Amino acid sequence: MSERVLIVDFGSQVTQLIARRVREAGVYSEVHPFNRVDGAFVADFAPIAVILSGGPASVLSSSAPSAHPALFEAGAPVLGICYGQQVMAAQMGAHVRSADHREFGRATVEAVAESALFEGVWEPGGRYPVWMSHGDRVETLPEGFRVAARSEAAPYAAIANEDRRLYGVQFHPEVVHTPDGAGLIRNFVRRIAGAKADWSMAAFRETAVAQIRAEVGGGRVVCGLSGGVDSTVAALLLHEAVGDRLSCIFVDTGLMRADEAGEVVGLFRSHFNIPLVHADAGPLFLERLAGVEDPESKRKIIGAAFIEVFEAEAARLGGADFLAQGTLYPDVIESVAFDGGPSVTIKSHHNVGGLPERMGLGLVEPLRMLFKDEVRALGRELGLPDRFVGRHPFPGPGLAIRMPGAVEPDKLEALRRADAIFLEEIRRAGLYDDIWQAFAVLLPVRTVGVMGDDRTYEQACALRAVTSADGMTADFYPFDAGFLGRVAVRIVNEVPGINRVVYDVTSKPPGTIEWE
Ligand code: XMP
Repeated sequence: MSERVLIVDFGSQVTQLIARRVREAGVYSEVHPFNRVDGAFVADFAPIAVILSGGPASVLSSSAPSAHPALFEAGAPVLGICYGQQVMAAQMGAHVRSADHREFGRATVEAVAESALFEGVWEPGGRYPVWMSHGDRVETLPEGFRVAARSEAAPYAAIANEDRRLYGVQFHPEVVHTPDGAGLIRNFVRRIAGAKADWSMAAFRETAVAQIRAEVGGGRVVCGLSGGVDSTVAALLLHEAVGDRLSCIFVDTGLMRADEAGEVVGLFRSHFNIPLVHADAGPLFLERLAGVEDPESKRKIIGAAFIEVFEAEAARLGGADFLAQGTLYPDVIESVAFDGGPSVTIKSHHNVGGLPERMGLGLVEPLRMLFKDEVRALGRELGLPDRFVGRHPFPGPGLAIRMPGAVEPDKLEALRRADAIFLEEIRRAGLYDDIWQAFAVLLPVRTVGVMGDDRTYEQACALRAVTSADGMTADFYPFDAGFLGRVAVRIVNEVPGINRVVYDVTSKPPGTIEWE
């Protein structure tokens, strides 16, 4: 295993970003909840460096989570961020107290001393923008530390014990609103911890293939393909590891976009020469969905039918020992809950839940330690064509949740055509890669129009295009009016059944990306 940075999670909303910044600096990192990290864990993990995340708790409360002492005794440098700084300072005897005025949002820090953390990034006397989000603050310095930067509300915005390689920052270097933050994190892992920075997708590919071989042994694996990047990359990696002991099943729900099924089948059979079962289950899905209008019911029906078809196809292949899934790291990282309340399910996402248990299959999740952008890089490494690597995400329930109301074949056809025109124009304008997701929604609304001398009374369609980093929040894409006008003219002229086009300018939150 290559050099690893241990990120101890105290429940910050942005802990994952720390892991990303470290990996961007070329060093592998993992996030683990503070309450799992004890002496044995640290010894086994053997971190080259430790980062303590921020978190919602106050070190002044009696139930405040603490950092295990082994973290400071392992000999690896430690960087505490926000709560992480406070907990480290408090455990080393410093005084932390509730600040008179809290500091949230943009702030300016002044570097007041040289530090290995700042080398090549910040200079003493310089003033730099950072992102702050804290109520408590460190009030006295722990022994052996000195101040490296201060802000108006935080006299100890950055502190350092260079001898013991212990650093603390009150601001958040992991967020983009701290423009130099990535540079500081890079300094920490590269200069201070001395990491060689050999984490790359080529290295991951090699390790992952060896791991899959060890895990699967002589067993057989089934993999469900969705046409998305994650399952495609998982399948390519598995194929490299186990060859023809991998069987891929593509459940064609009939709810895919124009040409999508053909592209997936072509990619596997022709481009990669990986055999794949194409289960054409469109009629079954349509039958089950007949007359169903409620979005959650549609999702449940589709999820159940998907599992049914997948299971039948897997049985027809003669069974398997493992089920492969394209699970990503953000779904794996355990979240640390402090309020004890359950997290709210806004929409149930459909997956193969329950299937491995029922079929008695082991799970292989070769992408479970990767972020989405790393999966894309791995895809490129494995020779996946750019057109696939850069694909917008597409939800499992497909076009069914892009037509409020019941799913019907003629509606699917109209939606598919409108969607294809929108995407074609986006690609033609060179905007595809600037957009997270773009699609058409067929509205259950009929409006009056006029075409030639005739009055029309047909359906309206909405266009949705958003920018986003991870799908959790999103902004509508600001197309120019000329572009939107061109798409509208084409859709109304070319798609029978649609006579009006509107553009959705809602951000998320409060809207969601999909309409259902
Ligand atoms: P929302 O609409 O919740 O979507 O803002 C966030 C991201 O999730 C996708 N999405 C789904 N993906 N099954 C999926 O596989 C689903 O049921 C589902 N619902 C939403 C959505 O396309 C966006 O990328």
